[in-house]
Amino acid sequence: MAKVIAVAHSKGGVGKTTFCRNLTLAYRKNNPAARILALDCDGQKSLEKFFADRAERLNAVEIQCHLKINPKGLSREIKALADDYEKVFCDVGGQRDGEVLRQVLLASDAVIIPTSPSQEDLDSLDEFFMVIDEVRGVNENLKAYIFINRASWQGHDKRSRVAIDGLAQKFEGDAEMLPSKISNLQAWSDSGTGGHAIWEIAPGSRAEREFTSVYLDLEGKGII
Ligand SMILES: Nc1ncnc2c1ncn2[C@@H]1O[C@H](COP(=O)(O)OP(=O)(O)OP(=O)(O)O)[C@@H](O)[C@H]1O
Ligand SMILES: [Mg+2]
Repeated sequence: MAKVIAVAHSKGGVGKTTFCRNLTLAYRKNNPAARILALDCDGQKSLEKFFADRAERLNAVEIQCHLKINPKGLSREIKALADDYEKVFCDVGGQRDGEVLRQVLLASDAVIIPTSPSQEDLDSLDEFFMVIDEVRGVNENLKAYIFINRASWQGHDKRSRVAIDGLAQKFEGDAEMLPSKISNLQAWSDSGTGGHAIWEIAPGSRAEREFTSVYLDLEGKGII
C-alpha cells in the first residue's frame, strides 16, 4: 500500500501545484523503478495538463493522473488506488472545494503545506489547521509539514527566518516546519508550462538548489 502524500492548503495560489509536480518528478528521478501515481484532485486539472505536456514531449514518464468529479467516496477511491503504487502524490485545489480537500486528507499519510511568509498567508494557516484537526478526528496519524515558499531572496530575508521559527513554535505538536525555504524566483513562474522540472528549466540555479534542500528535508524526515 502506497504512502499518500498531499500537497495542500485551503488558500489558493501558494505554490501547491508547482511544488507537487517537482516533488513527483524528483521522486521519479531518484526512484526510477518505483510505481508512482500523481493524482490531480483539483478541478482546474493543472497537474494533469502538466504531465500530459511532458508525456508528449519526452514520452518517458509513467505517471497517471486521475480526477474524480464527485468528491463523495474520494478518500476510499484514493486508498483503493494506493494499493497499486509505492507513492501517491496528490495535488489539491485551494478553497474551491473544501470537501475534496477533506477527502484527500482523510486518505493521506502526510500533508505538505507551502506558505508565503506574508502575515496574511501565515494567518490563513489557522483556518487550514481547523480542517486538519477535524480530519485527525478520523485519520489520527496524518502528519503535517510546513515550508516557506516565495520567500524574498534579497538580503538575509529575516522575515522568512522569523516566520519559520514562529510557525515551529505556534504549530508545535501539530506540524513540523521544514528548515529549508524556497524563494520567490522567476524560474518558478517560467517552469509552469511545457512539462519541465525546475532542474530541467533552470539547471544549477538557486531555484533548483533550494528545491533540492526542501526535498532533502522531506527525505530526512522519512516522508518520501
Ligand atoms: N517560489 C516561487 N517563485 C515564484 N513564483 C512561484 C513560486 N511558487 C509558485 N509560483 C507561481 O505562483 C503561481 C501559483 O502557483 P501554483 O499554481 O503552484 O499555486 P497553487 O497553490 O497550486 O494555486 P491554486 O490554489 O490555484 O491551485 C504560479 O504562477 C507559479 O508559477
Ligand atoms: Mg494548484
